[in-house]
Amino acid sequence: MQRPSRFLAALFLAASGWSATVSAQPAATPPTPAPAAATAPAAAAPAGGIQSANIFEVKPEASADPKYAGQTNGERAKVQPGNNAPMWRQVGSGVTGYSSLPKSEAPEAGNLIQPFVQYPGSLLTNAGEAWRQVRNNWLIPYGGALLLIVVGAIALFYFGKGRINLHGAETGRKIERFTPFERSAHWANAIAFCILAISGIVMAFGKFFLLPVMGLTLFGWLTYLLKNMHNFAGPLFAVSLVIVFFTFVRDNMPSRGDIGWLLKGGGLLSGKEVPSHRFNAGEKLVFWGGVFFLGIIVVASGLVLDKLIPGLIYVRDTMQVAHMVHAVATVLMMAMFIGHIYIGTIGMQGAYDGMKTGYVDETWAREHHEYWYDDVKAGKIPAQRSEPAPPSQTVQA
Ligand code: HEM
Repeated sequence: MQRPSRFLAALFLAASGWSATVSAQPAATPPTPAPAAATAPAAAAPAGGIQSANIFEVKPEASADPKYAGQTNGERAKVQPGNNAPMWRQVGSGVTGYSSLPKSEAPEAGNLIQPFVQYPGSLLTNAGEAWRQVRNNWLIPYGGALLLIVVGAIALFYFGKGRINLHGAETGRKIERFTPFERSAHWANAIAFCILAISGIVMAFGKFFLLPVMGLTLFGWLTYLLKNMHNFAGPLFAVSLVIVFFTFVRDNMPSRGDIGWLLKGGGLLSGKEVPSHRFNAGEKLVFWGGVFFLGIIVVASGLVLDKLIPGLIYVRDTMQVAHMVHAVATVLMMAMFIGHIYIGTIGMQGAYDGMKTGYVDETWAREHHEYWYDDVKAGKIPAQRSEPAPPSQTVQA
């Protein structure tokens, strides 16, 4: 086999028209005949010096060497000049190279492609690709399917069973269900939630249902706008969620009748509602599961994604994990709150009025929260809690 340097030099000389004088091989273009005296010694000389060769004819191939796969870039350059595969293999496997930037300021400097990892549901591959597989193969299809199933089930229930109406006639006597403070906390939270849910759905699933109708330009602008709204509504949601939690935690503590309520499904299918205190076991489930448990996960992962946690180093794998956790928890939270919003609006007569005006009719209180109604009637809970009472409201204990 020829020395590579010789081989390259031969290529260079051949290209510049010098091959006839330096190579023993015949050149592609015959040189101009030279005087016999000048050519005679060359013809007599044995083959040697720089040789040209066809790369496909060079045997044995460099790759036949058993140590070929383990060569460093330097070793490879000796047998195959210009072949940088060992270096790129290292880059692809996440090896960190040298960087003069301090680790505290640029923790990922010198590392182009992340190391290999296997996220749940992905293959063992570099982390960026593993994250992409989890997102595209699991989060998007199954998350989207869950939300569609929940919406479909609620639609089936609504069109099959209809709204939950009051059985008795309204008395006109009102009980204060939510104080202005409670309503403000709730609506601040609900508005932030709606902005987050809509923008999140467009960011995750918009390309399937909006892009085809809007086109790239409009969809790009819309998603850019919604992404920024998402980033700003997140902290508002976090703060209002904490306020909502402390505002409603007392009446969401487990109490007598909760298990029975759950076992009977609240009487949703039988049509005979199971008595409950101020909040029934279904509401408590949404409170502890949705507001508290998922709330902590959604808010914590969201604050990481917003880069609002002081002292945390925001490297790519931190963001990938935060994203996957955020996506799972928010989809579950949305599924829960779609049910809550349904019951709080078109699903139950009079529920929305309670959160809008703060007051519910006595009939509503008796039919939906009988123990709470009994306590109000017994004077254990004041029927009017906020001060001063609006003059238009008739309040009877
Ligand atoms: C557009 C969205 C929303 C609507 C229309 C809505 C509606 C309502 C209504 C009507 C009530 C009163 C239920 C009752 O009287 O028992 C209520 C209670 C409540 N809502 Fe919402 N809501 C929405 C979003 C949210 C969100 C996003 C959260 C929290 C993340 C939330 C948390 C609560 C809590 C904690 C209560 C008190 C009852 C309980 O603890 O379960 N709501 N909501």
